[in-house]
Amino acid sequence: MRIAQRLSKLGPEGAFKVLAAAEELERQGKSIVHFEIGQPDFNTFSYIKEAGIDAINSGKTKYTPSLGTMTLRKELAKTVSEQRGVKLSYRNVAVTPGCKPAIFAALASVVDRGDEVIYPDPSFPAYKILIDFFGGEAVPIPLLEERKFSFDMQAFKKKVSNKTRAIIINSPGNPTGTIIPKEDLIEIADIAKKNDIWVITYEIYSGIIYSDKRYESIYSIPGMKGSTFIVDGFSKIYAMTGWRLGYLIMPESMETHIDYLLNNAVSCTASFTQEAGLVALKGSQRDVRSMVRELRRRRDFVVEKLNEIPGITCAAPSGAFYAFPNVKSFHKRSQEIADYLLRDFGVALLDGTAFGKSGEGYLRISYATNMENLEEGLKRMKIGLQTLSAKL
Ligand SMILES: Cc1ncc(COP(=O)(O)O)c(C=O)c1O
Repeated sequence: MRIAQRLSKLGPEGAFKVLAAAEELERQGKSIVHFEIGQPDFNTFSYIKEAGIDAINSGKTKYTPSLGTMTLRKELAKTVSEQRGVKLSYRNVAVTPGCKPAIFAALASVVDRGDEVIYPDPSFPAYKILIDFFGGEAVPIPLLEERKFSFDMQAFKKKVSNKTRAIIINSPGNPTGTIIPKEDLIEIADIAKKNDIWVITYEIYSGIIYSDKRYESIYSIPGMKGSTFIVDGFSKIYAMTGWRLGYLIMPESMETHIDYLLNNAVSCTASFTQEAGLVALKGSQRDVRSMVRELRRRRDFVVEKLNEIPGITCAAPSGAFYAFPNVKSFHKRSQEIADYLLRDFGVALLDGTAFGKSGEGYLRISYATNMENLEEGLKRMKIGLQTLSAKL
């Protein structure tokens, strides 16, 4: 039977592939330390769980409007207005079953066949895959370690053309943990405005940052509201990955289009999940703050231990929960090093090229796991990499 050509554009996310390989080794009796999956090991905070259970018990188990319940849309408009310093109404908000459907909806809304979309390399794999899926031309811009993994701005400016339809940014970024500096955001916004280019800003880690400075979003720059989508969600910040709750901030002019898109694709987001999300937003953010404090402690530990391994250099990430050490001195492909660490030392992590070509020479470690695992995994990595150096 013939299948649609566009299916050939799809591929799995590296983290899920390595997780499956690691689980297979576990089934064979091998002890594995998991650093591959980007999922907080924290449980969903109890007041949020209770809100979900109450919602189910009180019969909130039916369809809601495709764009989300009015109460949640209004609460999200209020929260995002306060955080980004831009006045929003519920008409700017679409609730989605996780961030990924919001990524899908934003790209589906702006990319036509042949349109160029600029995106960071390395970055979350779904960006490039979906640009290809929608028939667009994916235009990678390298992130430079010497710029703390921000865009190579020279390359960026050269790649903007009259075919550029959208620019994707992700801050704090996966896999690097980088927060894009304000001066870059201003320059990107300027170029986008001058050339009528959409900006899609992925801000799912905006609540997980390790400084007291206010989070800077490109959305806050004057003149951006009419041509910018924000994708954000509850998965990471409220440890709700399995609940499936995200949202898309959009210009009001897109409201009906996104409504129809969600209506035909998913009908709506689960109603009890939306109720739990409402309570998450309105509740005390104390649990979030203590989770971020703990993640910071782990980040400091991981970065210190990585830098103690001869041949590795690792800068401290400013947000998210990923370390992105440089392993170029081992003169092996990142993929080979990642495979070796999994096979011979039981450490499951991702090679940088799972996020794009410019990830060559790096590994990604998710430190959203407990201290015991971090200690064990880093000990194994040290032995593994010292053994590798001795063979060179
Ligand atoms: C940048 C980025 N966007 C989206 C997601 C997926 O979010 P969700 O589980 O809410 O779909 C992730 C998860 O790893 C991510 O790192």
